[in-house]
Parts: sequence; structure tokens; C-alpha cells
Amino acid sequence: MGTHQVAVLAGDGIGPEIMTVACAVLHRVGRAFDLDLVFTEAPFGGAAIDLTGDPLPPETLALCRQSSAVFMGAVGGPQWDQGPKRPEQGLLGLRKNLGLYANLRPAKVRPQLIGASSLRPEIVGGVDLLVVRELTGGIYFGQPQGITTVDGERQGFNTMIYTESEIRRIAQVAFQAAMLRRKHVVSVDKANVLAVSRLWREIVIEVAADFPEVNLQHLYVDNAAMQLIRWPQQFDVILTGNLFGDILSDQAAMLTGSIGMLPSASLGDGPGVFEPVHGSAPDIAGKDLANPLAQVLSGAMLLEYALGQTQAARIIEQAVDRVLDLGFRTGDITTAGMTQVGCQAMGDHLLDALEELLPGK
Ligand code: IPM
Ligand code: MG
Repeated sequence: MGTHQVAVLAGDGIGPEIMTVACAVLHRVGRAFDLDLVFTEAPFGGAAIDLTGDPLPPETLALCRQSSAVFMGAVGGPQWDQGPKRPEQGLLGLRKNLGLYANLRPAKVRPQLIGASSLRPEIVGGVDLLVVRELTGGIYFGQPQGITTVDGERQGFNTMIYTESEIRRIAQVAFQAAMLRRKHVVSVDKANVLAVSRLWREIVIEVAADFPEVNLQHLYVDNAAMQLIRWPQQFDVILTGNLFGDILSDQAAMLTGSIGMLPSASLGDGPGVFEPVHGSAPDIAGKDLANPLAQVLSGAMLLEYALGQTQAARIIEQAVDRVLDLGFRTGDITTAGMTQVGCQAMGDHLLDALEELLPGK
């Protein structure tokens, strides 16, 4: 038994409602496993802009630094799109400040949801892959960047840049993950066009030499995008940079039926951030329509990666499977014959499932 401080950044849109469900689940499982989880909320994203003018107030960052883990909802919304500060800057600032270079995005097709995918069951059945996305470098952060005027015309520019050490450490994360899985890494780049990708490939090959049991393959990003929908079962670990990983992880998410199912972990040397892959969905916010399962599964990743509580994490995953087995679905994943429920009711069914899975605890 120990006290674990968890910073809760619910954020915008559906963030607060899915966070309420996920915290209740973590609370219940924490009690069963004698984990003294202490949740402290702090403003973040658009909500923090409205309150303080800053999407990542210094107090919020300080709380995150002092915590064992950061549990995050979602940020963004149309009301902040024009402003001088954007909620997304808060998210990028958090990643950079906490040094969260490794973003793990598992995409697993659950058999109960196979019919909810936009691809045919025989294509997506059994898909179980992990996108390892570099998160603090690449074109997202490269300098110089900006918009200037040249010869009376404006031009916008960004820089895609990776150092050897940045490539090496994310490649190591991918190979280590592969060792615990099916020992297959596909490194995704654009080495036929980009110099930065040629260095990427060279370093990944060097790192691979330390993992002789892992099979390494390289794909250009355009081909990888195609292969993901043509034959997704071929993938185990996908290793890639920040921008390509952003795009491919959304695509991988859709294999599972809904982006509302995908959790993620962002890890560095300090506290990690655990958040769903999806956004703040302002169109359905506050209507009790959101799917809380990605947030709940992000809670499972928090228990596993931040607190080392693998068994507790598995119980949460089993609870998710249980409610799906019982036919409960939010609107985004529902199919004929299922019972459509709202966000809160989904949370209640998860708590019921946990009572069954945690007898006497
Ligand atoms: C993601 C999101 C973010 C990103 C946005 C909100 C800045 O799309 O986490 O995938 O581009 O990384
Ligand atoms: Mg994205």
C-alpha cells in the first residue's frame, strides 16, 4: 500500500464526462488492490485559457511534475480556434516539459466490436498492434518554423529534424516493446525523399543489432498507410516519428471500430501522461453520448506503466470486455441488436462488472 498522486486534467469537450467515469473505475480498482490513489484536478487546455489565459498554467505543470502520473482527458474546441493561444499548445507544452518522448498507442480489435469496424471482419479480426510514436521531436517542434513574407508573398515553413539520440531512444522503446510481444517491428519513414528519414533508418538498423530476436522491416509511410487497411494483421509494433505517428495512429484506431476505444501512454523519464487517442468531440459534449472506454483503458495503462500494477490493469480490461459481452454500446460502436447506452450508464455497467470481477474486495 502506498499513496499515489494522480494529476487529473479533464480538459475540454467530452473530457470532463469521460474522466468522471474513468476516475470512478480507477477508484474502485485502487480500493481492491490497496492503492491509495489521490486524484487532484487542475485546469488545462481551453478550460485553462478561459480561466487564466494560458492552456498550461504553471500551477498545472507543477502539479504534474509532483505526481506519479497524469491522467488527461481531451483538449480543444471551436471557440478557441481563433484565439492567440490554442488549447493544443498546452498539450504540446506538457509533452515537451515532461520530456514524454515515447507515445504508445495500442490498437486491438475486440471480437465483440468486429462488426463496428468500417473494414470487413476477415480483414480486422485478430488485429493487435502497437504504434510507438516519437512525441517530442520531428516537425512538431523543429526550428525554424513560422510564416514570413518573401518577395511580397507570404510563405509558411516547418522543419522536420531528428537527432541520432532522439531516434535511438525511441527505437529502443519499440524494440523492447516488441520483445514482450510478437517480436516484429515495422519502422515507418519516407527515406526515398527525406534526408531526416535516411538518418532515421540508419539508426533504427543500428539499434536492431542489439535485439537479434526481433525481426525488423522498413516501410515508406505511404505504403504503410495502405498496408494498414489492406492487411492490418501483419503488424505487431509500428515505430515512427511524430507526424507520421499522429496520422497512422488515427488510422489504426479506426480498425478497432471507433477511435473512442483507443488509449495511450506518453512516457519519458518522469511522470507519464495517460490519455485517450481521440479528441474533445465538442459536437457531443455534455450530452451524455460520449464513449468513456478509451479513457477507462488509458486508466488501465496508467496502473500498468506508472504504478506497475499489471494485475489491476488487466481487471479493468476484463471489465470492458464484460460490458461489451453483455451488449452495452455507446452510439459510436453500436450495431444491430445491441443495447445503446450513454456515457454515465456505461460507467455504471463497468462498476457492476468490477463487482463481479473483484469478489469480496
Ligand atoms: C494526438 C493529437 C494531437 C497531436 C493534437 C491535439 C495536438 O492529434 O495526440 O494525436 O497532433 O499530437
Ligand atoms: Mg492525432
